[in-house]
Amino acid sequence: MNTILVLLAVSLTVAGVAGDDKTCPGAPTMTVESACRNVSGTQAMYDTCKDALAGVPDPMSDHDVTVYALAAAHGAVASVDATMDAAINLITNNKSLPGDEKDAYSECAEDYSTALHAMGSVLNKLDGCSFDGLADDYMNGLLDVENCRDRVLKLSASPLYAMVLVDRNKAGMALFLGKLLGI
Ligand SMILES: *[C@@H]1O[C@H](CO)[C@@H](O)[C@H](O)[C@H]1NC(C)=O
Ligand SMILES: *[C@@H]1O[C@H](CO)[C@@H](O)[C@H](O)[C@H]1NC(C)=O
Repeated sequence: MNTILVLLAVSLTVAGVAGDDKTCPGAPTMTVESACRNVSGTQAMYDTCKDALAGVPDPMSDHDVTVYALAAAHGAVASVDATMDAAINLITNNKSLPGDEKDAYSECAEDYSTALHAMGSVLNKLDGCSFDGLADDYMNGLLDVENCRDRVLKLSASPLYAMVLVDRNKAGMALFLGKLLGI
């Protein structure tokens, strides 16, 4: 129940941010289509991009790329947050969780809390149009998520596997869209 409320709040935030039509000095403007074409080398990436920006109103109009960076970063945070809740829930409530899974998810919860810290910094910098160290924050968040992915990949099976892969793709797409700012 609490998780649902949190997720709802996060998706409302995403819509709210996109609706503000954020601008930053010197940031390029383009349509959602151009942004996604620009950052996607494959169809899968293009689909991830279009999903990440699905909540941007008026997608055929030019928007400051900061709008896209914010939407993608909020989406990645929501995804990572939900996976972290799922990991903690498994550790806490699943009495039949094998030891190797329990260890992996505990370490993932640490990776993810560091990732969320870095991604929170990304959101603050985007909000404040202050891009110093922004590329590092993106990379730190992505590397933390990839650390968890590598732990989960070593398990023979995991209920979190698909979620972690989605988190990784969303965090990667957030970085690519952020790069449109020239960082
Ligand atoms: C989109 O990509 C092209 C080719 O990489 C590049 O020349 C162009 O500057 C990009 N547009 C923006 C606004 O980043
Ligand atoms: C408990 O963990 C096992 C092993 O990962 C998993 O197969 C099962 O679906 C989990 N149960 C619940 C209720 O999540």
